[in-house]
Amino acid sequence: MKDYVVKDIDLAAYGRRELDIAETEMPGLMALRAEYGEAKPLKGARIVGSLHMTIQTAVLIETLVELGADVRWASCNIFSTQDHAAAAIAAGGTPVFAVKGQSLEEHWDYLDRSFMFPEGPNMILDDGGDATLYVLLGARMEAGEDVLAVPTSEEEEVIKAQIQKRMKESPGWFAKTRDAIKGVSEETTTGVHRLYDLHKKGLLPFPAINVNDSVTKSKFDNKYGCKESLVDGIRRATDTMMAGKVAVVMGYGDVGKGSAASLKGAGARVIVTEVDPICALQAAMDGFQVTTLEEVVATADIFVTTTGNKDVIRIEHMREMKDMAIVGNIGHFDNEIQVASLKNHKWTNIKEQVDMIEMPSGNRIILLSEGRLLNLGNATGHPSFVMSASFTNQVLAQMELWQKGDAYQPGVYILPKQLDEKVARLHLDRIGVKLTQISKEQADYIGVPQDGPYKPEHYRY
Ligand code: NAI
Repeated sequence: MKDYVVKDIDLAAYGRRELDIAETEMPGLMALRAEYGEAKPLKGARIVGSLHMTIQTAVLIETLVELGADVRWASCNIFSTQDHAAAAIAAGGTPVFAVKGQSLEEHWDYLDRSFMFPEGPNMILDDGGDATLYVLLGARMEAGEDVLAVPTSEEEEVIKAQIQKRMKESPGWFAKTRDAIKGVSEETTTGVHRLYDLHKKGLLPFPAINVNDSVTKSKFDNKYGCKESLVDGIRRATDTMMAGKVAVVMGYGDVGKGSAASLKGAGARVIVTEVDPICALQAAMDGFQVTTLEEVVATADIFVTTTGNKDVIRIEHMREMKDMAIVGNIGHFDNEIQVASLKNHKWTNIKEQVDMIEMPSGNRIILLSEGRLLNLGNATGHPSFVMSASFTNQVLAQMELWQKGDAYQPGVYILPKQLDEKVARLHLDRIGVKLTQISKEQADYIGVPQDGPYKPEHYRY
């Protein structure tokens, strides 16, 4: 019986051709294959992956496999799968359950299937925390304990229904699976928030590595990645002229900084909203007008949420927007925009992941990816090169947890700075960077080891 769900397995050859290109742009992952391919440090690891099933992720999966792991994969978002990437992975023999445009019910069913190793999984590689949530919430429901909060209330019923189904089919499965997990590596800001929260409440039973806060992840993927992929998503969705338009970016963290730069680079006039005075000051000194959404909601053309927070664009805002305003989100969950409150309005589907919604005034808004992250829903996410840095951290985190996880107490950890610097180093050649060699005298003078790390832990980059 086939052990995968993809849209069309015949897309595998196309996926493979794109994988060949991506490999040339992912020097970090390829270097890990060269360094550890023979030693197979992940031998025995059975990794459940819940992360956007893109071409770049396919290179990550094949790296994990080359390092000895058994892998099963689901996407962490219903719109982000690249079907040719999924097909290539399935054809290569790794079970993958991901289709672009899958329903929410399918999403949780596919996640469940990604756990179904004959001997059970022992590692999780997560993006946004869905796989971790599934096991921990399931174990609590199984034990009849207070249930964990589900981040997006709309999904709650669907998740719980899927858990009930698994409980019925395999009594005791959740506790057994939870106890077998040696550790989790988490990709994104939102997932990391969840892990710290679980740990604070004493509910995290295994060690977790926060990949997001490796410098070579959040200061690159979240920033330079969004700088390329945000406008890409808006253009592929709408073909709108960016130059001269007024765009509002909500949030000026790492993703907001990249998003504002993306829109500015395309010629839009960018306005930023923030709640944090430090980030607001940064935005102002980067040359952006900083004001409230209420001030500009009736006049701006494009609205992008980047906050990882909920209810940032609310129904009262959307009612005030001008005709054909474009509304989208690049944060992890769709609850940044109150999409649920639009359900009783008139929707006209323009094409996949692009909807025109009529407001009571007669004005229409163009909503991208139903409020889910638009760079992956309307385009193909970040370019390979920047994802190579993120995923090199992921592989290092999996190796650390698999080999040394027993030495860690439950808690949330960050990879040592030396590894962060290693990840950066692996990406220099590809773009022709020549590093200056610090002399012994100079290293002593500024108080750093000659081979690094070159910065103290508290340095913010
Ligand atoms: P961050 O914490 O660096 O930035 C979020 C910013 O939003 C903060 O500065 C915060 O003060 C601000 N904020 C919070 N509530 C706000 C409100 N109501 N109005 C205005 N500003 C508000 O987080 P980061 O790393 O920028 O991530 C943001 C989101 O993007 C997360 O959900 C993360 O998981 C996701 N993400 C998405 C990526 C993608 O490719 N689409 C890539 C990386 C992260």
